[in-house]
Amino acid sequence: MREKTYFEKLLQPGQIGKVQTKNRIVKTCGGAEDVGDRNRAFLEAVARGGTGLIIWGDVAVEYPRGVTIPITARHFEDNKYIPLFAGIAEAVHKYGCPIFMQLFHAGPQAFLPAGLQTISSSSLTDSEVIELTASMKPKELTVSEIEDLVDKFAETAVRARKAGFDGVEVNAARMHLLNSFLSRAWNKRRDRYGCTSLENRCRFLVEIIREIKNRLGSDFPVSVLINGRELKIEKGTTVEEAQGFAVILQNAGIDAIHVRAFGYHGFQSIDASPRGIYYSEIAKPLPKELDWSHRGRGAMVPLAAAVKKVVSIPVIAVGALDPFIGEQILQEGKADFIGICKGLMADPEIANKVVAGKSEDIAPCTDCGDCARALLSMVQKSEFVPIRCRVNAALGSEPDYRIPLASKKKKVVVVGGGPAGMEVARVLAIRGHNVILYEKENRLGGLLPWVAVIKGPDVDGDATVLANYLENQIRKCGVEIKLGKKFDAAQVSEINPDAVILATGGIPEVPVIPGISKSKVISVANLCQRVKDDLELMEPAVMRALNKYWEFIGKNVVIIGGTVAGSTLAEFLVERCRNVTIVAAGSIWGDEPLLRSPALEKVVRMHEVQCREITDSGLIVATAEGKQSTLEADTIITALDPRPDLEFAQSLEGKVPEIYLVGWESNQPRSIMNAIGNAYRVGRSI
Ligand SMILES: Cc1cc2nc3c(=O)[nH]c(=O)nc-3n(C[C@H](O)[C@H](O)[C@H](O)COP(=O)(O)O)c2cc1C
Ligand code: SF4
Repeated sequence: MREKTYFEKLLQPGQIGKVQTKNRIVKTCGGAEDVGDRNRAFLEAVARGGTGLIIWGDVAVEYPRGVTIPITARHFEDNKYIPLFAGIAEAVHKYGCPIFMQLFHAGPQAFLPAGLQTISSSSLTDSEVIELTASMKPKELTVSEIEDLVDKFAETAVRARKAGFDGVEVNAARMHLLNSFLSRAWNKRRDRYGCTSLENRCRFLVEIIREIKNRLGSDFPVSVLINGRELKIEKGTTVEEAQGFAVILQNAGIDAIHVRAFGYHGFQSIDASPRGIYYSEIAKPLPKELDWSHRGRGAMVPLAAAVKKVVSIPVIAVGALDPFIGEQILQEGKADFIGICKGLMADPEIANKVVAGKSEDIAPCTDCGDCARALLSMVQKSEFVPIRCRVNAALGSEPDYRIPLASKKKKVVVVGGGPAGMEVARVLAIRGHNVILYEKENRLGGLLPWVAVIKGPDVDGDATVLANYLENQIRKCGVEIKLGKKFDAAQVSEINPDAVILATGGIPEVPVIPGISKSKVISVANLCQRVKDDLELMEPAVMRALNKYWEFIGKNVVIIGGTVAGSTLAEFLVERCRNVTIVAAGSIWGDEPLLRSPALEKVVRMHEVQCREITDSGLIVATAEGKQSTLEADTIITALDPRPDLEFAQSLEGKVPEIYLVGWESNQPRSIMNAIGNAYRVGRSI
């Protein structure tokens, strides 16, 4: 815990143009949010949570060519949308928080419907399309089309102000249209917008800034987001070039500059998750311009710091920052504002908790990437998927983030101290119920320690942090915790609960296959238990690194079941030089190519396969067409989803007025996000 006084700089008021902020925390844009009630509720929670400034949107200035995926509602090319966006500004202003709308044009990144062509600074050859990971071969913009787009950006800024937004951020980062002019990797033009000088590369952006200021007055705040470095691409923007852009943009009148990195070929997600570089295999070599001393936290800050050296306007840094690193960055003069996106999705009340001296109550973002996966899933399926967070179940689901007091106080027994059990206990206790939690083992956390081992310290090692956070919260909320104690029907008359919640994780399913009892077969459930027992002796990081520990798993592994547990275990084993095949009767988690990690790419995936027999040499399988083959295997791991413990529930029937099973979302993968999400919703309903 840190006292409020530790965060001296972070809590200092700030200013961008004429806009005052109560502190230096900026909620950076987390696109793909919808524009309806759920999104409004989230932004309201961020504003109520004491955040200094919200940058929201990634709102396209043109439709459909300007959006990344056509199904989004975040485009503002017409005045008829003003009331829609005004609702967002109004919700945020209720709590005295200013809000900027981020404006953008997807350009060559857009995934357009058939018949439409993307646009860019220059056309590309076939090999350049592949190299730059463009969605298709773009059309080069003519000068009159550029002029038309300058008008569209400025008009959208005018609409944003009419809708009540306090400023705009022009997104010239990633591989969007404006970046295609800034970056020499994209820009091959020889005219006044061409690649021959920094001024020419900035000209389109400068014209947009001047036109916005022209129409809205020089005091209407405009921030610009740039790639401070483009990684893994020839002629990608360098730090020195980014400094040059910053000076030109400052001279054009911008009020703040927001700097991060972008990359290609293994580095595409660096802007959304610099810590993700370590998962599932470390992307090498780690770029030297970034700071890897905190394994990705604050990695992109050197880019902001480099820009800060050459400008006098405020600089926004971003990338896996939290209040602690944020304070340090401000103290060291590396930036003026601390951008946080995912952290505020996990806990919209960061600022208020810091002010109250309760930083230990901040719910941790585990950098699991589940929120970003929703985005990729949307691109993949071309259908709207609400962004959800594994830690904050309200995100994308609740119209109001405040947890209301229950109308009637009840005595509730929660059975199981995993993430679902702790989350439901937390919510129930906040609602004023009297909660007793039983955990048969001697520690809380359920499968989270196993997850920390399998997924590692950079993505889900924070699973341990999540377990500690939940445990701390339920203790503080007054939940009575009974460790090493089983709860069964016999105790009902003694405790007399109004409700019992079963969060036991279910009963492991074992497939019925001849040979299943052979010694080479092990279930994920047994593997988890073995690992959890041995974690009494060593830390998750040590267990991960100890190759000898994993020698009981042979070189050739077959995993039966396309579950989250099976796929994440497969990633882990591939990294440990095992040849892994997953066989499943249906789909396999990670089937969508965009959602697959590099390690998962190396796993052989066999769909619609029936398991016939386990022999001494491996697993005999049959395809849907009846073709039979043997998959050589030294180890076979069964990873089917467990089934709900209905027998336990039935044993309580007639004895307890209310019985709930939590941790299960029907037809959803069994993930931490779905377990916590379900527990949260049940907790709110009792
Ligand atoms: C799901 C998701 C969507 C995002 N969408 C946008 C966007 O539309 N525009 C943008 O500038 N940044 C976007 N970002 C990037 C964030 O603003 C931020 O730069 C990044 O997540 C790193 O900060 P963080 O570690 O605090 O989350 C997105 C990030 C996530 C996780
Ligand atoms: S889903 Fe995961 S990465 Fe995204 S905000 Fe929540 S905890 Fe962080």
